[in-house]
Amino acid sequence: MGKLSGKIAVVTGGTTGIGLATARLFAAEGAKVVVTGRNAQTLAAAREELVGVADVVQSDAGDPTEVRKLFEEIGRQYARIDVLFLNAGIARFAPFADSQEALFDETIRVNLKGPFVALQAALPFLNKGASVIVNTTVGTERALAGASVYSASKAALATLARGAAVELAGRGIRVNAVRPGPITTPIFGKTGLSPEAIEAFAKWRAPRSSWRATIPLSSPGTSCPWMAACSPPDSTRLLPAARATSPRRAGRLRRRRAHFAGASWRRDR
Ligand SMILES: NC(=O)c1ccc[n+]([C@@H]2O[C@H](COP(=O)([O-])OP(=O)(O)OC[C@H]3O[C@@H](n4cnc5c(N)ncnc54)[C@H](OP(=O)(O)O)[C@@H]3O)[C@@H](O)[C@H]2O)c1
Repeated sequence: MGKLSGKIAVVTGGTTGIGLATARLFAAEGAKVVVTGRNAQTLAAAREELVGVADVVQSDAGDPTEVRKLFEEIGRQYARIDVLFLNAGIARFAPFADSQEALFDETIRVNLKGPFVALQAALPFLNKGASVIVNTTVGTERALAGASVYSASKAALATLARGAAVELAGRGIRVNAVRPGPITTPIFGKTGLSPEAIEAFAKWRAPRSSWRATIPLSSPGTSCPWMAACSPPDSTRLLPAARATSPRRAGRLRRRRAHFAGASWRRDR
């Protein structure tokens, strides 16, 4: 029996790259998987590739109306979500001085507002033991030239996830952030970088000492164990700070969970 046998898993942005590989892994672990995407071509390709593996649904991850509709539909069909991987994201790179407002707005729309709306919309269907994973980037804590807007959107997402993790812990819902290093996926072709810059970026490796939790990754499949590690209901491996945790940290979270379970946010301030 797989780790996710009988579970309902939703992967936003699951038509290519990390999301697609993770959807396959979740399905191999026994989950019923729903993936989303926006682009008609990649949706069609994913539908062919994921026949019998996952349902592929068109939904713009940055459009609140479409996101709410998506989760209402999933709720109607399955009544619950056990694993929610908020993975859909865009990476448009530009030097800071040349970054236009339109790039900023689009990046925040898809990478930050989308997951915010999605997590809220999914809440009614997330029960005790559910796992939410948001996909951020090593760039949240490491300076990457040309990626200031992208990294900022993901840093905000990581912070949002951290806050949600503490608040939702009382309901037995785990929220984690993963922050992969460079992984070769179609995203590089959409960054706006030159082929030489893409090659240099893809070779970039985080120093091991300070980035042990991030580990250098190079193919979409290698990141999947991290998503899977977050997913089983009995997992305590990853807790809100997106790092591997120690028993002491797990104890701290349990105490915080008890604290939040017993007091309303307002009363507690
Ligand atoms: N690859 C890396 O080095 C790396 C490193 C760290 C973090 N990440 C993060 O990992 C996530 C997945 O990236 P990836 O590398 O696997 O890239 P990818 O192959 O380009 O995959 C992105 C996925 O998100 C979907 N997507 C993008 N915008 C969307 C929108 N508005 N609505 C719905 N779906 C949308 C894409 O679908 P469409 O084709 O339909 O647009 C695709 O399924 C992103 O959040 C990215 O920031 C990637």
